[in-house]
Amino acid sequence: MRKKVTKAIFPVAGLGTRFLPATKSVPKEIMTLVDRPLIQYAIDEARAAGIKEFIFVTSRGKGALEDYFDTAPQLEAELRKKGKDDLLELLKNTNMDSGAIAYIRQHKAMGLGHAVWCARRLIGNEPFAVILPDDVIAAEKPCLQQMVEAYEETGGNIVAAMEVPQEKASSYGILDVKEDMGSIVSVRGMVEKPATGSEPSNLAVIGRYILTPRVLSNLNKIKVGAGGEIQLTDAIAQEIEADRPVYGYRFRGQRFDCGSKAGFLQATVSFALSRPDLRDELAMFLQSVVAEQRAAQ
Ligand code: G1P
Repeated sequence: MRKKVTKAIFPVAGLGTRFLPATKSVPKEIMTLVDRPLIQYAIDEARAAGIKEFIFVTSRGKGALEDYFDTAPQLEAELRKKGKDDLLELLKNTNMDSGAIAYIRQHKAMGLGHAVWCARRLIGNEPFAVILPDDVIAAEKPCLQQMVEAYEETGGNIVAAMEVPQEKASSYGILDVKEDMGSIVSVRGMVEKPATGSEPSNLAVIGRYILTPRVLSNLNKIKVGAGGEIQLTDAIAQEIEADRPVYGYRFRGQRFDCGSKAGFLQATVSFALSRPDLRDELAMFLQSVVAEQRAAQ
């Protein structure tokens, strides 16, 4: 029996500069896809995968995130008075059991590896998940749950993986594939943001990881890497060098890069179209917009 994965780290310290001015006073993770903030999608996915402890690595100005997961006594009393049980039920999803959620500050923006390392004492000697809330994944079976199931078979370290166009490879961590077994690949190496032309494949790391605590020990002494930052990819790659297994997992689902405006808009449209209460009206609107554009061309 493998140790169960019950802890997840959510790196949410980023400034969200790509969404300024919106993110001047609102954390990026609170930005809304239809009617749920980005972070709620990440939390729901973690819960579905059996995560019980949620560790947020935050920074200055992220107070709205803490409030979001807190109870809201005044709002709840008001809804109760008005008999709005459906909304009260909806809000339950935003609450956490006491002690199930922790916030750690990343005092300096030193990269994803450093953010994860900030949570080391809360992880201790257990396997753990990392979820990057910018990567939103629509899937019948939530992505992290798929990965937990794969982990039960393989153990080791597992990173979510997806083929990307070659010209985009330099924006990702890229896997050097040793053996391709279909949904699972074993990995011979990993490179963070390879220079164009030097990428070992077009299989990119997407923001879901199940990692062994050794990766945290590696982060104790890792040097700055791509972009002058401490890279999680480099700490995972050290496991391979030490002859310990690392796998890529080709998940079933559609990933949206909500760290970019185009990706965020695509996710918004796609999630709205999957909602029975919004689908018809939005589809009609989109059709008319496309027709108008075609006519204008
Ligand atoms: C991070 C990781 C990278 C991964 C990507 C997925 O990069 O460092 O390995 O491919 O997330 O979204 P970032 O997008 O934060 O630059």
